[in-house]
Amino acid sequence: MNVTVFGSGYVGLVSGACLAEVGNHVLCVDIDADKIDRLNRGEVPIFEPGLEELLAHNREQGRIEFTTDVARAVDHGLFQMIAVGTPPDEDGSADLQYVLAVAESIGRHMGEYKIIVNKSTVPVGTAARVRDRVASVLDSRRLTVEYDVVSNPEFLKEGAAIDDFMKPDRIVIGTDNPRTTELLRMLYTPFNRNHDRVIAMDIASAELTKYAANAMLATKISFMNEMANIAERVGADIEEVRQGIGSDHRIGFQFIYPGCGYGGSCFPKDVQALGRTAKSIGYDARILDAVEATNRQQKEKLFEKISRFYNGDLSGKVVALWGLAFKPRTDDMREAPSRVLLERLIAEGARVQAFDPVAMDEARRIYGDKPGLEMCESAESALQGANALAIVTEWKNFWSPDFASLAENLTDKAIFDGRNLYNPDALRPFGLLYFGIGRGEQFE
Ligand SMILES: NC(=O)c1ccc[n+]([C@@H]2O[C@H](COP(=O)([O-])OP(=O)(O)OC[C@H]3O[C@@H](n4cnc5c(N)ncnc54)[C@H](O)[C@@H]3O)[C@@H](O)[C@H]2O)c1
Repeated sequence: MNVTVFGSGYVGLVSGACLAEVGNHVLCVDIDADKIDRLNRGEVPIFEPGLEELLAHNREQGRIEFTTDVARAVDHGLFQMIAVGTPPDEDGSADLQYVLAVAESIGRHMGEYKIIVNKSTVPVGTAARVRDRVASVLDSRRLTVEYDVVSNPEFLKEGAAIDDFMKPDRIVIGTDNPRTTELLRMLYTPFNRNHDRVIAMDIASAELTKYAANAMLATKISFMNEMANIAERVGADIEEVRQGIGSDHRIGFQFIYPGCGYGGSCFPKDVQALGRTAKSIGYDARILDAVEATNRQQKEKLFEKISRFYNGDLSGKVVALWGLAFKPRTDDMREAPSRVLLERLIAEGARVQAFDPVAMDEARRIYGDKPGLEMCESAESALQGANALAIVTEWKNFWSPDFASLAENLTDKAIFDGRNLYNPDALRPFGLLYFGIGRGEQFE
């Protein structure tokens, strides 16, 4: 089948590559000409494991192409997928300008039946707004063309996006037209062989499902961080508590890791946007507000611990920072806790020596030559001349460092572990001081 994908970011590129891999002819379109040039040269503008190989293979086979030519893109696909960003507006609600711009383009160029498939995360009512926008452009062209608008939210995780797309837990299809559901079922057949993963529902429910899923996951994290803050004050170890509750099958072990807060392009903005939707209809979503407030506070946690350690005087201190991406296996630094920490440290007079296995280019793009911030070539070089080490991303490379060399390198022998990677008992023989999240004051 012919598929057009608007937006060549994390979702658009992965969806496009996976749909091409199973035999479709995919045309990816983006307004960012530089991005499209790079893709046409065989470069991949983002880091996502396996994506480079998948794109290269399908490009060679002629099953995936990249363009900025909107007219060609609209002409190409029966399916017009929208995978553009929906960043937070000034008040936290989802900014739909990019989604509606795509709707406008589709309306301006379509000449035959199209299925507009929205994969971007959007508030309830957006499919109707897309439909209206297309209708009004068609009206102005004095043209009557049939089309359907479908909500097909995307659940892939950065870092495991290809696997998630190829073997999804579920494929949510929100339509008001059974024929469209069947056409989408056909498109997704190769990803649906093992058992039926399609969950067909009405459009509003599909739109809300995506927000509900992200809000639930964010709630688990904030809940656990709240427990960690209580544990810290009562002298308990949250890691013991985590084992204790995760073993209950009703709770489970996933998404109950305490830490220095969640980031990324989804949870922060989606929790906020859902809260705004609730407010706009006169409902006070108190759990969502608390989830967000707890997370904001948690992102300050490492800074507070470091500042307390130095009695509030950070001037001249050098902090090695391991991890910049908001989570491992991605270069995405949107809303990353590392940003809050490094900005606070530098504002208080410290210097930061940062390293991340893949997010260095992204960090340079964001911070340029920010005074006080040095990008280091390796985890080890970040330690040179540092007083203390802070860990914010749980990359596998950081799990088993040479503690003897850490003790030797760090002037003040202090480790601030925002992901609870280490066993405090294992560090003590090296004379290292360990500060984790929610692990009791006895460790501090
Ligand atoms: N990143 C994730 O892990 C993830 C997972 C599930 C859902 N989502 C949702 O998917 C959507 C896209 O997220 P992303 O992370 O891929 O975003 P992204 O910022 O990585 O990519 C968006 C792309 O859309 C392009 N764009 C903007 N306007 C356009 C237009 N009019 N025509 C064509 N291209 C246009 C931008 O140039 C950019 O390249 C968001 O709504 C997000 O919430 C993201």
